[in-house]
Amino acid sequence: MSGPNTDYDPVEVAAVSPAEVEAARDAALAAIAAAADLEQLKAVRSDHAGDRSPLALANREIGALPPQARKEAGQRVGQARGAVNQALAARSAELEVEHEARILVEESVDVTLPTDRDPVGARHPLTTGAELIADIFVAMGWEVAEGPVIEAEWLNFDALNLGPDHPARTMQDTFWTDPADDHVVLRTHTSPVQARTMLTRTPPIYVVCPGRVFRTDEYDATHSPMFHQVEGLAIDEGISMAHLKGTLDHFASQMFGEGITTRFRPSYFPFTEPSAEVDLVCFVCRGVDSDACRTCRGEGWIEWGGCGIVNPRVLQACGVDSSRYSGFAFGMGIDRTLMFRHGLEDLRTLFEGDVRFTTAFGSEL
Ligand code: DAH
Repeated sequence: MSGPNTDYDPVEVAAVSPAEVEAARDAALAAIAAAADLEQLKAVRSDHAGDRSPLALANREIGALPPQARKEAGQRVGQARGAVNQALAARSAELEVEHEARILVEESVDVTLPTDRDPVGARHPLTTGAELIADIFVAMGWEVAEGPVIEAEWLNFDALNLGPDHPARTMQDTFWTDPADDHVVLRTHTSPVQARTMLTRTPPIYVVCPGRVFRTDEYDATHSPMFHQVEGLAIDEGISMAHLKGTLDHFASQMFGEGITTRFRPSYFPFTEPSAEVDLVCFVCRGVDSDACRTCRGEGWIEWGGCGIVNPRVLQACGVDSSRYSGFAFGMGIDRTLMFRHGLEDLRTLFEGDVRFTTAFGSEL
């Protein structure tokens, strides 16, 4: 019977000798204690507890020892590794706490500091106002059309039944470009966009045309050489004055509030026949006890724009079959409309670019 081989010579494995293990452990503990932050501790962990660390290598050598030497060596290496791991965990916890504390100090924010000291600005009320108007019509299935501000005389006047000798030409104080022979003007109204639209599209046509217009007016609280208009044009079969009235009533109530309707007063425009001036129910007194109302000055109504049934001569000049189609058109000042809406007294506030005005009114619409 063979028993354990008790007189077997222990194999010398230097790495697991008490002195080596102790030295490796002490070196590890010293390095752990010296690690100043988590980053350094990570490197220490890899050097002293990683797969290639002296103690890990010593652990691997245990298998090469004779069986009777393994237990003692195993305990020695195991204790050393345990001590190192414990020290690593303790230092890591310590450094973690320090790290948190440092972040709280370094990344602290003074929430009492003032912020956003640069004004962010706002879109101009004329831009948002023109968009609001366009939206009201787009919601009814209309399209938005635009034309150039430097316009051919023919489109600004002749196509709209304002012939060369028409007295109404002098009613619109026109800026002419040089040389006069070019017959080019700064458009005096948005009505040439009607002509452009009819010339390029086939009916049915439903367009709204906001834009800048120019007249040689003085610059004062109610006039400006540059201002804004919005034109509307509907061309279809069987269009009547009733469609025009319904459309403008809807426009007025969307713009100024439920119950604000319009009335027509007979008037004259060369491009419409019949023609009318459009008034709005005064949106301040609503026509009730108007005598004391400063907005409509006792009238109960406020002038808003012009409108009418498109003159067949205009349809013909623009290539629309006037025996089949009829249409209505209207035009009003956007600036004036916004002055009503915001209770502005002076037209100039819309043009002078004071940011206090823009921020107060620009984003509101
Ligand atoms: N173009 C006219 C003006 O500037 C306004 C106007 C009146 C436009 C009647 C129209 C209209 O389309 O039908 O005074």
